[in-house]
Amino acid sequence: MTKIAVFVGSLRKDSFNLSLAKNVERLSPEGVEFDYIDMDLPLYNQDLDGDMPAKVVEMKKTVEAADGVLFVTPEYNRSFSGVIKNAIDWASRPWGQSSFTGKPAAIIGASMGALGATQAQHDLRNVALFFDMKLMGQPEVYFNAATGLDEDGKAVESSEDFLRGFAEAFAKHVEANK
Ligand SMILES: Cc1cc2nc3c(=O)[nH]c(=O)nc-3n(C[C@H](O)[C@H](O)[C@H](O)COP(=O)(O)O)c2cc1C
Repeated sequence: MTKIAVFVGSLRKDSFNLSLAKNVERLSPEGVEFDYIDMDLPLYNQDLDGDMPAKVVEMKKTVEAADGVLFVTPEYNRSFSGVIKNAIDWASRPWGQSSFTGKPAAIIGASMGALGATQAQHDLRNVALFFDMKLMGQPEVYFNAATGLDEDGKAVESSEDFLRGFAEAFAKHVEANK
């Protein structure tokens, strides 16, 4: 069993990024299990580093128990969403006890155009590298939700092989680096 902690950076009920994550989950090889982080967390407050909210403690445990981490980010104002940054800030603390250190990881994202959250993903790469995460470089997934998803959020047929290719490469990357 390969366990993946999944951070989806949108709280929107009909989030295209959540749909993207669900499609990657569906197209992943047998034995890969996605554990979706509850991203509806309180705002990070350093005063609470010694006594973190229960939801945050649970999130950190999920990440630490996972073999790998998948970030799925929308692009908000030419960067990744505050929802993702907030969860990352919690998971990175207390100082010296980051839940991310050394974990294999990948970053993907969707937007409503051909750029597919490109800038968001590149900004997030810098942050993930700070934690010495083993980031997969290829294949990149800059997903155009306008053309790549049907009205039920399922990947259109022409996108399936591409997403399956990503899912298979990521599963191998996690196995090789966990
Ligand atoms: C606050 C905000 C800022 C946005 N900024 C960008 C942007 O810089 N680039 C872009 O391609 N899309 C931008 N968008 C559009 C989002 O990519 C689009 O709403 C997308 O569907 C959000 O992801 P979701 O469907 O997972 O919630 C922005 C949307 C919001 C709400």
